[in-house]
Amino acid sequence: TDGSKGWCHSHVKIIRKALSEEKRVSTKTSAADLVTETDHLVEGLIISELQKRFPSHRFIAEEAAAAGAKCVLTPSPTWIVDPIDGTCNFVHRFPTVAVSIGFAVNQELEFGVIYHCTEERLYTGRRGRGAFCNGQRLRVSGETDISKALVLTEIGPKRDPATLKLFLSNMERLLHAKAHGVRVIGSSTLALCHLASGAADAYYQFGLHCWDLAAATVIIREAGGIVMDTSGGPLDLMSCRVVAAGTREMATLIAQALQTINYGRDDEK
Ligand code: IPD
Repeated sequence: TDGSKGWCHSHVKIIRKALSEEKRVSTKTSAADLVTETDHLVEGLIISELQKRFPSHRFIAEEAAAAGAKCVLTPSPTWIVDPIDGTCNFVHRFPTVAVSIGFAVNQELEFGVIYHCTEERLYTGRRGRGAFCNGQRLRVSGETDISKALVLTEIGPKRDPATLKLFLSNMERLLHAKAHGVRVIGSSTLALCHLASGAADAYYQFGLHCWDLAAATVIIREAGGIVMDTSGGPLDLMSCRVVAAGTREMATLIAQALQTINYGRDDEK
């Protein structure tokens, strides 16, 4: 995880080529939760290559989970894979799309890699060894004041009226608190990488999954940031919710401002 640009080159080539082509799109949990044949193809390739090298390791992966595989994080070495984060962007050719792979042992996140497929940026983080983008060290912002903050979030897949009302009212609360802006870029992992690089001060979301969070959590922590539960307590990777920020003060203020949107848990689906 030292920033080598050779990582997963062939998978990224597949995604970049498919980005401009016609796609077969299906829906999963809602009309806004999309999947394409490329998500399946790339996930299969990543898992089969890792399996060849590490036959005893376990896997949690987005499309396998959608097909009914259980998402349980045991103490065994486990790879947590999102083959295309930002599938909706991918479908629309909006060039903010990433591959995300996290690795945990003893239920502790050890390292993460996220590749921004169109901008060729490789984000890496390894516990105790720092976080990097193409070899350049990452550092979060030191901002503690919401009224000086740029905040990132993602909408999440549910679009029923009650969920949308809560989503918009959370955004409104931060704007009332005079945040400089609230941005939605369509990829949780890349938004979290912007936070790790200090380009934004905070991130929150309800409805993301462990494969959106695993790699990014190591990268943010190693860049000096905080990743916590929206209740203000410790992060629970399976809880489908998160607040992250450059400082604990900022993360706590954001958590206090939010109303909960219930998405259940990844390990109970
Ligand atoms: C999704 C994207 C989206 C976010 C969802 C994620 P996917 O991942 O990051 O922006 O709102 O919560 O699950 O489905 O594109 O891999």
